[in-house]
Amino acid sequence: MRHCIYPGTFDPFTNGHLDVLLRAAKLFDRVTVAVALSSTKEPLFTAEQRVALIKATVGRMPNVDVVAFDGLLVEFAHKQKAHAIIRGLRALSDFEFEFNMALMNRHLEPQVETIFVMPNESYSYTSSTLVKQIARLGGDVTKFVPAPVAEALRQVFKHPTPRQTRAGKQSGWHRRA
Ligand code: COA
Repeated sequence: MRHCIYPGTFDPFTNGHLDVLLRAAKLFDRVTVAVALSSTKEPLFTAEQRVALIKATVGRMPNVDVVAFDGLLVEFAHKQKAHAIIRGLRALSDFEFEFNMALMNRHLEPQVETIFVMPNESYSYTSSTLVKQIARLGGDVTKFVPAPVAEALRQVFKHPTPRQTRAGKQSGWHRRA
């Protein structure tokens, strides 16, 4: 059974990520979406929230599972007995970073191959940072992210009503402390 890891910070998961995942799920018998804790990126959503949002998006895709991981990606891939790491290449600008990462990962673990797939060109300008920026400023992100993610962003960036503030109410997708 061919198994690949699709790693990322996914803060949050976008339609571009989903496009890559759907392609990987056609190529491999099993895909594990691996959500990096990525403390250096200071994510908006906790790892648990990011995992939950991806699970809510992929629903019951039979050959996909979603887990959080910490530490070296290649060690995680090795433990999972994965054959490959999948990464998306949106544009030439992604290439240098991805190339370095793939070669370093190969150096660390020669058994795990990195495979690049290209998402549909309509996602070439989508990024998690831009999506968060648009949502923070009240813009519409529904074209760029799956519905559960759009709703979570709406909850995070909504301005609380005076009543909610008084009651100290928080939604399930409140900002991390
Ligand atoms: N569609 C839309 N956006 C995409 C995309 C796609 N198909 N592919 C990448 N992106 C964007 C993301 O939105 C994100 O944008 P942002 O920087 O504005 O947030 C950016 O490209 C990359 O994010 P993502 O795909 O989530 O991956 P990442 O680069 O954050 O993930 C890890 C990097 C987690 C794979 C890497 O840091 C890692 O392996 N960490 C573990 C530690 C380790 O092993 N380090 C040694 C590595 S050699």
